[in-house]
Amino acid sequence: MTGEIFLKLCLLILGVVSPPVGAGEWTASVVRNMDALVHSCVVVPCSFSHPKETLPTARLRGQWHRSKDRDQLIYYEDNTRVLENFRGRTRLLGELGKGNCSLEMTDIKSHDNGPFCFRIELARTETDTQTVDKFSFVEDCVTLHMMSEPNAPSLTHKDPIQGRPFTITCSVTHTCPTAKPTVTWSRGSADDVTESHREIHRGLWEVSSVLTFIPEEKDDYQEVTCTALFNGRETTSSSKMTLYVKRSENYNHIIIPVAVALGSAAIFGGLCFLMVKKYRKRIEELQRQDGTLFNRLSRISRRIRSPRENPSGPRQDKSYVSYQK
Ligand SMILES: *[C@@H]1O[C@H](CO)[C@@H](O)[C@H](O)[C@H]1NC(C)=O
Repeated sequence: MTGEIFLKLCLLILGVVSPPVGAGEWTASVVRNMDALVHSCVVVPCSFSHPKETLPTARLRGQWHRSKDRDQLIYYEDNTRVLENFRGRTRLLGELGKGNCSLEMTDIKSHDNGPFCFRIELARTETDTQTVDKFSFVEDCVTLHMMSEPNAPSLTHKDPIQGRPFTITCSVTHTCPTAKPTVTWSRGSADDVTESHREIHRGLWEVSSVLTFIPEEKDDYQEVTCTALFNGRETTSSSKMTLYVKRSENYNHIIIPVAVALGSAAIFGGLCFLMVKKYRKRIEELQRQDGTLFNRLSRISRRIRSPRENPSGPRQDKSYVSYQK
């Protein structure tokens, strides 16, 4: 009797001291908190590893269950064991053999909060249904935060300038990369838009749409709207901006008067030249006839141009002589 108690005690102590088979070898990384849009989908990034050996997908069975009860399955290969509420709405996206346990949940309901945890089962052989190892990653579970309305897109741009290419970026975040939102603009055609899709951080994605156009004067005070259409029940959200088009800098107020002045001067000069050429003979005649008047005029003009030739000249000469003495 005492021997049996002693044996049981030994087993108990051993059980506490030595960890269960496989425990501690499995590690997983699951995103803890995620936003999820009701009626849309969510993809929960999840990865796990078993450092001792690389395991073939065929020997691995993945499960996702409610954290409070391992039997409340929200995902399993055998659909019949999945809670009716989740049946057909969940699937594993990655390959278990590559340590990818990412979960997709579609048609999100407002009560799908979780937390949900991943559990791995390892079969003895690829055809065997008997499991040799199981591990629940109950420390790494995901909680979904339900959003009844999608995020509004954010718009970024510089000041539009008339006649110069102008770009507006419309970005919207989401957690459903398998059916990302579609972004549309209130103006421009598909050729004017470029789109990109990236993961900002684990589980959170962003669609960015860039619209390019050349604002004209008539675009001043016009609105530009960007609309994001989310997967499921056609939920939309939009943002808009008003264009305050700056006039492009130009020098027309200087260039035009200068051009007009130069043009008139050229025309006037040309006319004078033609007149002189045409009436040259007549002018020469006039000069000969009215020589006295002409000579007098030219003498006056010479005096004005060079003062040394004027009558005050001799005085300058005198001073020059006295200086010589
Ligand atoms: C897991 O699989 C999904 C779907 O194929 C993929 O998008 C994701 O990048 C994979 N994750 C890792 C860590 O490889």
